[in-house]
Amino acid sequence: MKAVVWHGIGDIRLDEVAQPTIQDPHDAIIHITRSAICGTDLHFVRGTMAPMREGTILGHEAVGVVVEVGDAVRGFSPGDRVVVNSTMSCGACRYCRMGKTSQCDVANPNGPQAGTSFFGGPETTGPIDGLQAEYARIPWAQNSMHPLPDNVSDEQAILLSDIFPTGWFGAELAGVTRGDVVVVFGAGIVGQFAAASAFKQGAGRVIIVDGEESRLAAALAQNCEIVDYNREDPVQTIMDLTNGIGADCVIDAVGVDAERPKRGPAAVSDEDAAKFDAEVAQIAPDADPDATQWKPGDGPSQAARWAVEVVAKYGRIGIIGVYSPTVEQYPIGEAMNKNLTIRAGNCDHHSVTPPLIDLVASGQFDPTALITEHEHIGDAIAAYEAFDRREPGWIKVELV
Ligand SMILES: NC(=O)c1ccc[n+]([C@@H]2O[C@H](COP(=O)([O-])OP(=O)(O)OC[C@H]3O[C@@H](n4cnc5c(N)ncnc54)[C@H](O)[C@@H]3O)[C@@H](O)[C@H]2O)c1
Ligand SMILES: [Zn+2]
Ligand SMILES: [Zn+2]
Repeated sequence: MKAVVWHGIGDIRLDEVAQPTIQDPHDAIIHITRSAICGTDLHFVRGTMAPMREGTILGHEAVGVVVEVGDAVRGFSPGDRVVVNSTMSCGACRYCRMGKTSQCDVANPNGPQAGTSFFGGPETTGPIDGLQAEYARIPWAQNSMHPLPDNVSDEQAILLSDIFPTGWFGAELAGVTRGDVVVVFGAGIVGQFAAASAFKQGAGRVIIVDGEESRLAAALAQNCEIVDYNREDPVQTIMDLTNGIGADCVIDAVGVDAERPKRGPAAVSDEDAAKFDAEVAQIAPDADPDATQWKPGDGPSQAARWAVEVVAKYGRIGIIGVYSPTVEQYPIGEAMNKNLTIRAGNCDHHSVTPPLIDLVASGQFDPTALITEHEHIGDAIAAYEAFDRREPGWIKVELV
């Protein structure tokens, strides 16, 4: 079968690989009908989240049909249409029973303290072969997939694999309540769904910050107030928009590949530029900061720093943008002195997703408008490259 395989930083290939088989009674095998490329995948190819193991199949978003189940999988049978959670969970441990499934004690083969296990990730997450492939093995299948109703299409369901639940989870981490002024950093697909989720959770206003015009235009289309950090200083602008108080909640939907402003009033000083260069060198020592393709973000802590600056005293920050364990730069002193609440982490997909499937099935929310590209798996590498370059209009790529 065909699959997108990680060979090295800046080196991914569409390879012919062996079809997966059941290895454990808790496994299922699915035939994938839709997969997708996520901003998280870019970190692995840019070298900002390491170490990856050569030969790992990438991808952690999929919709498919069950073809085989192991003896311990009781709730699914061949022929079921399912959406796969990006993160795996056992369903029986202490964390799974609290719905905190991203910190399952059992699913990560590296042990209970190793953190989240997800498909197609670095060594520390398994590694478990990913979902940008024709077939996949789903470990802990009973608690890592959801059945899909007939009235939810594959195209709607692919965004239920990771993006919609992560955006929803981000708004929950930031503690969005009725009337709040919410700032979202990052207008990629995760930021778009964080914004939509914040509105649904009661936000009065959502202000979204990015430097890409086509992504800001998509945010404006869902009635967010938009701030382009290459035209305005986002900190000053958000203070002006909030009567000098700042935001009640901030959601960081950027992560470690954050960019620094390139022009405009927020363009960084030489001193800050040197600070950011040092961060890149420390976080991604094997990446090529001067490459034109697979270039790591040149301001790793930029979104995190702005988040602390624009939030009100006693404000709340939810971090869903991914930072690898090697990232150590955070304005902890400023956060402490503003009495902030900061919550962070990987989405608890298995417990967050079910009501979102219902929202889509009932027609209250159609996520498909934000899938801008529909590519065949055979064109996956070119699609990765265009998405990495943030080609105008490319917000989300589904792989058919
Ligand atoms: N926590 C989770 O469970 C989870 C799940 C999925 C994705 N993620 C993470 O969410 C983040 C976003 O994912 P995505 O698919 O939308 O990625 P993406 O790369 O498509 O979007 C990131 C956006 O951030 C913007 N950006 C860069 N620097 C910025 C800055 N300083 N301020 C504001 N915006 C800035 C970029 O222009 C881009 O539009 C990634 O870090 C991804 O790894 C986390
Ligand atoms: Zn994803
Ligand atoms: Zn568990």
